[in-house]
Amino acid sequence: MDLQLTEEQSLVQRTARDAAERLLAPHAARRDVTGEFPVSELRALADLGLLGVAVPEELGGAGAGTIAYSLAMQELARADASVAVTVSVSNMVAELIAANGTPQQISHWVPRLVSGELVCGAFALSEPQAGSDPAALTTRAEKTDRGWRLSGTKQWITSGDRAGVLVVWAMTDPRAGHKGISAFLVPGGSPGLTVSRIEEKMGLHGSSTAQLVLDGVEVGEDAMLSGPGRGFALAMMALDGGRIGIASQALGIARGALEAAVRYASERTQFDVPIIRHQAIGNMLADAATWLDAGTLLTLRAADLKQRHQPYSQAASMAKLFSSEKAGLICDIALQVHGGYGYTRDFPIERACRDVRVTRIYEGTSEIQRIVIARNLLRAQ
Ligand code: CAA
Repeated sequence: MDLQLTEEQSLVQRTARDAAERLLAPHAARRDVTGEFPVSELRALADLGLLGVAVPEELGGAGAGTIAYSLAMQELARADASVAVTVSVSNMVAELIAANGTPQQISHWVPRLVSGELVCGAFALSEPQAGSDPAALTTRAEKTDRGWRLSGTKQWITSGDRAGVLVVWAMTDPRAGHKGISAFLVPGGSPGLTVSRIEEKMGLHGSSTAQLVLDGVEVGEDAMLSGPGRGFALAMMALDGGRIGIASQALGIARGALEAAVRYASERTQFDVPIIRHQAIGNMLADAATWLDAGTLLTLRAADLKQRHQPYSQAASMAKLFSSEKAGLICDIALQVHGGYGYTRDFPIERACRDVRVTRIYEGTSEIQRIVIARNLLRAQ
């Protein structure tokens, strides 16, 4: 797709593509097998400004806006989707603190997140019984003389065992429903914060997904982000932005798979012609290329609205719904085009098919995105 990007957006895109090809792509297959967490890669990306593309410059970010951020995410995911989701969640945390923290919270956490000093951040909202319905969370924060004591269990926490800082959502007033939820900034490694389980996943093996137990974790008065009872709204706002990141991740995975499929179909000869000349193959690739561009347009539209401070919740849900669903189909087509070879680990397609699947689930399932879109349609009546 050939949109007229600004010089800065093009520069971020080129920087991310170069870094992804140089630093990530050569080791992505190995990390998929070993499950090793990409600490040095994250620090190298931080040095290039890629952990804070949309974070304001005065906080150490690149200040390049959400379109540039989406383009960078697509490039990282094209090479290694595990690194991309780690960066995406960390970026969501950095943006959340930058937009809602006190001056002290912002200066303490944001520059250290984007510089790679903290490696990454984590977003601890979901619980074993509160996934699609985060208002049902049961983690408690009780007031103490010196601040707050947090107790509960968090589930599906990307980088939960690696993050230098976690945003943890907890009930401060259980009688108030979602208006009783508050958000807290909890340093990684805090006493009482333990990793009870690392998930063995179908894909994204180079990212870490943890179940965490908070057993009386003590944080200071100054650890609460925004005001008491503001947590649910903060989570919803952060997820709107996060969904642009996951849409971009899905698009990046799909782009990598489609490029490989077109290359393969142009080189592989059967019945005396490259298989792309068989309409059955060419048509599949044509559909895939069309979906990829459509998803990219939807995602960049959501990014454009966000960076212009316009309402973008519905646009972000549409972008994530469409991009993640079509990315799954594109990867499946790419595998089909590769035939039996696509089903082996000799080609990157089988990893793409595993990695892409969860983009329809995390940061709001496709079903949740449809709820958000439908409610916005109703509201517009
Ligand atoms: N921005 C700001 N505020 C919002 C909002 C938004 N996008 N959406 C809702 N709110 C506010 C509402 O205005 C309302 O406020 P008031 O009470 O003051 O009127 C309040 O939040 C409650 O709104 P709803 O009644 O619409 O809330 P709900 O309980 O019906 O849920 C939902 C709405 C959209 C379905 C929401 O529950 C949701 O997004 N669920 C999915 C959760 C999710 O995405 N989880 C992902 C976990 S994180 C993850 O995956 C990260 C990772 O590690 C990869």
